[in-house]
Amino acid sequence: TRVAVIFGGRSSEHDVSCRSAASVFRALDPTRYEVVPIRISREGVWLFVDDASSVPPQVEISPMQSIAEALVALKSVDVAFPCLHGPYGEDGTIQSLLELAGIPYVGSGVLASAASMDKEFTKRLVASEGIAVADGVVLREGESEVSAADRERLGLPVFVKPARSGSSVGVSRVDDWDELDAAVIEARKCDGKVLVEAAVVGREIDIAVLELPTGEVTTGPALEINVHGAGFFDFDAKYFAGTAEFVIPAPLPAEHAELLADTARRVFEILGCAGLLRADFFLTEVDGEPVAVLNEVNTMPGFTEKSQYPQIWQTAGLSYSALLDRLISTALA
Ligand code: DAL
Ligand code: MG
Repeated sequence: TRVAVIFGGRSSEHDVSCRSAASVFRALDPTRYEVVPIRISREGVWLFVDDASSVPPQVEISPMQSIAEALVALKSVDVAFPCLHGPYGEDGTIQSLLELAGIPYVGSGVLASAASMDKEFTKRLVASEGIAVADGVVLREGESEVSAADRERLGLPVFVKPARSGSSVGVSRVDDWDELDAAVIEARKCDGKVLVEAAVVGREIDIAVLELPTGEVTTGPALEINVHGAGFFDFDAKYFAGTAEFVIPAPLPAEHAELLADTARRVFEILGCAGLLRADFFLTEVDGEPVAVLNEVNTMPGFTEKSQYPQIWQTAGLSYSALLDRLISTALA
């Protein structure tokens, strides 16, 4: 099977994508797969490279020309793996190109990718089906005021987030309304649309959803994130500080684990996802009853061997390589 692994990309998660792809290259069984690595530079130029570690040459070609050339070459692959995080990769744009070219690919389609990348739309869609989400306000391009009534209702701290970003890039915790403007400016470096969300007090739990080639949608054991020291699971805690610890399976009563798994499957269906999804929750209690509050989703979750999604399946007995086999089989089914 010829697999094009597309990685890098124009988003602020370029480096994270390169790390994910490096793990994918290591794990794809060379006796079964012929890998075609395609690296997208930060400027959007598509380059054929040897592997994830090769430095892209300084090229003079335009994104347009390189994409046209890549599409011709992609005609010879059986399946594409868009191992990209964030805008221009995880948001339906690449997916649309692959759809138009008739190339099967791993993961969600155009609408599910776009809706899942945009935290405003993710929340609207799942909330309309009764799934709990954090209370918040949306600041559209040009807006930066949070009304007194909204401040009162949201309370402090709030989290200020770019609507379409990942790995917590551009996210800040605001403990004093005086800090709001600076946080909005920071978030706007990533996206003109910004969310100001109430803090949810609860355990941070990720659920991995995996679609089988038969179409059956399965979930892995719950993963709990324990952040030591850091204020929240921010970019540093995610990739550098070593302050976050994953516990799989999360120590949970069976009914709480079931609630999270059921909710994650529903989120997958509501958003119309395919292949895989990591749904990130806060598990809270209201009047003694557990409530799974959806924080966000990732249609192409971090994919290094150490990342949550592969770790969850490893614990469930599915090795990283077997997980890739399954994702590719589902894409081709
Ligand atoms: N957006 C990063 C890659 C993640 O959620 O894993
Ligand atoms: Mg994310």
